[in-house]
Amino acid sequence: MDFGGESVLSSELWNKAQSLFAGGVNSPVRAAVKPFPFYTKSAKGAYLVTEDSKRLIDFVLGYGPLILGHAHPRVIEAVKDQLERGWLYGTPSKAEVELASLITKHIPTAQKVRFVNSGTEATMTALRLSRGFTGRSKILKFDGNYHGAHDYVLIDAGSAASEFGVPFSHGIPSEVSSTVLVCPYNDLVCTESVLRREEIAGVIVEPVMGNMGVIPPEKDFLPGLRKLTSEYGAVLIFDEVITGFRLGLGGAQSYFGVKPDLTTLGKIIGGGFPIGAVCGRKDIMDQLTPSGRVFNAGTFNANPISMTAGIATIHELERGEVYRVSEKAARILSEEIDGAIRMDHVVNRVYNFFQFFLGVRDVKNAGDARKAKRDLYVRIHENLLRDGVFIPPSQFEALFTSGAHDEEVVNQSAKVFKKVLEDLT
Ligand SMILES: Cc1ncc(COP(=O)(O)O)c(C=O)c1O
Repeated sequence: MDFGGESVLSSELWNKAQSLFAGGVNSPVRAAVKPFPFYTKSAKGAYLVTEDSKRLIDFVLGYGPLILGHAHPRVIEAVKDQLERGWLYGTPSKAEVELASLITKHIPTAQKVRFVNSGTEATMTALRLSRGFTGRSKILKFDGNYHGAHDYVLIDAGSAASEFGVPFSHGIPSEVSSTVLVCPYNDLVCTESVLRREEIAGVIVEPVMGNMGVIPPEKDFLPGLRKLTSEYGAVLIFDEVITGFRLGLGGAQSYFGVKPDLTTLGKIIGGGFPIGAVCGRKDIMDQLTPSGRVFNAGTFNANPISMTAGIATIHELERGEVYRVSEKAARILSEEIDGAIRMDHVVNRVYNFFQFFLGVRDVKNAGDARKAKRDLYVRIHENLLRDGVFIPPSQFEALFTSGAHDEEVVNQSAKVFKKVLEDLT
């Protein structure tokens, strides 16, 4: 096997990768692509080009960050300029002040910010902060919500943890898992009974569940969480790693008009480069080191490349056009999909991201999502891929649209969805 030449096929890379990586990949959902993962050579706008020179319309978009589409010229320009000036200083840089100013300008409850390097680190830090701030040790999360890959949240987790049958990861000490309580999503009765019974430090929630497919909050759920957490003295954490800057500049908290105490961000705020952030109430954020005694640090925290890409992305979002185009694309396609499926189903969409579920009529929580016909979803994924459309390989992920999903892209993909869904449902 010689990888020096031009024509390396995905099948050859996959054969080699299986001997190099556990399960052949470096993040599990990538192994769910059937019959085997394709390898991407390049990407532009709404398209990926594989090592097999196949062009695919992309509804995965790096699992959410690429709201401008791939390789947006303004991000390229900004990052190139930063690269010329160095990319890691070990000192603060102007870019971090600029990106944090944009975040505090747009996210209503963001008074202070701490940059980290992934959504995982952001939720880990937010939960530690909630414990440090309240002096309590237990947290409450919701079944099927995915908050990254650290010990405190891999309990009844969605996304790849559910796809691969390990919602409760092995390797987590019972001393840790016993501090994490779980309720069904959209269930305020369970939430209240846990808050009444236990001393809860923080309640962490995806304001729109994007990791069991897409599941919107019911009308009273987020306001109810706000009311109950205030009443019982728990810190309310909105995990906006997906929804931050996707549901508009103010994220889910503006979209639904509910104010959390802390917010975790990631994905879009780094413009496709590694990033995470915790932001929120000043009195809680000030508990972080060095002003407080809740520790957080990172060699790559606020690295100038992610900061610069994030600034360019948010400036582009401020023009408004990306939201208009991405919402229209998601709306039209979810309607087309809804019309093409010939069996019981539901399409859940919130603004510019969505997912369809087959064989069920209503999906309000993870239990409902688990009842959907996942085998059929996978066959649909495979057939769409054959015809040039890449949707998430797992039922427990979301389809995302971007500013690059214009009319031509939408029309082209609508035709493929119609043919495949009419054939298979
Ligand atoms: C809501 C949510 N929180 C946290 C994470 C973890 O982010 P990361 O993969 O950057 O660690 C994800 C990742 O998909 C997510 O969707």
